Amino acid sequence: MASEIAVTVTTRVEAERAVARLILDLVEARRLAGDGCALGLATGGTMVGVYAALVELAVAEGASFEHVATVNLDEYLGLGPEHPQSFAAFMHAHLFGPLAERCGLALERTLVPDGLLAASDPIRAARLVEARIAELGGLDLQLLGIGRNGHLAFNEPGASHRSRTRVVALARATREDAAATFGGLAEVPRRALTMGLGTILDARRLAVLAFGAGKAEAVRTALSGPIDRARPASALRRHRDVSLWLDAEAASRRP
Ligand code: PGA
Repeated sequence: MASEIAVTVTTRVEAERAVARLILDLVEARRLAGDGCALGLATGGTMVGVYAALVELAVAEGASFEHVATVNLDEYLGLGPEHPQSFAAFMHAHLFGPLAERCGLALERTLVPDGLLAASDPIRAARLVEARIAELGGLDLQLLGIGRNGHLAFNEPGASHRSRTRVVALARATREDAAATFGGLAEVPRRALTMGLGTILDARRLAVLAFGAGKAEAVRTALSGPIDRARPASALRRHRDVSLWLDAEAASRRP
């Protein structure tokens, strides 16, 4: 059964602000209801502006993140939080550090998959992610980018839409896209721990962003054509509550 994805085409800056607003509204609604709030978070260039907008809004409005818990989608195998290219370091720099300092986010309630444990005990590292999500009662919102090759998190083409958190091999295109930040392709890890597509589809709501012409083909597969393993982004049509924010370039091949 395919569901309709709510698509908004706008400028990148407007999209970043809209998603930041959506997250903050959810965080605040949960606080007012006296409930915890469980956010699924993502990394990558797409998220930098989203997190900057979120911190700016949260600080301006005096928002509290004391009741918020977070779980990240993925991490490179073998990279610990002190590695500058780790997703743990990214999250700390762009979001966790500022929100801990200004808005009461408890760092012990944030979880980025453990890249070091994933290298030595992949089953345990994967179970910790699934168990944390279960303990939180599921994720209220999962934030997502889309890879140039259509991947969601590190679910590369071929991944089952029912897959759970596990260690995977990275596609060549994914490693090439990361090469610049690592200072060369040879430095980019070959494997990663990632939430599965099934894990992602269990989140109650998905907020997805894609910017630039390089994402246009992946966006097309998200919105039209077959829903199958060859196209991880097509799994988005299996979820009932997906909002997708695009700039004009990323939307240019949309049917
Ligand atoms: P990007 O990556 O935000 O760096 O473009 C998106 C992704 O690979 O999911």
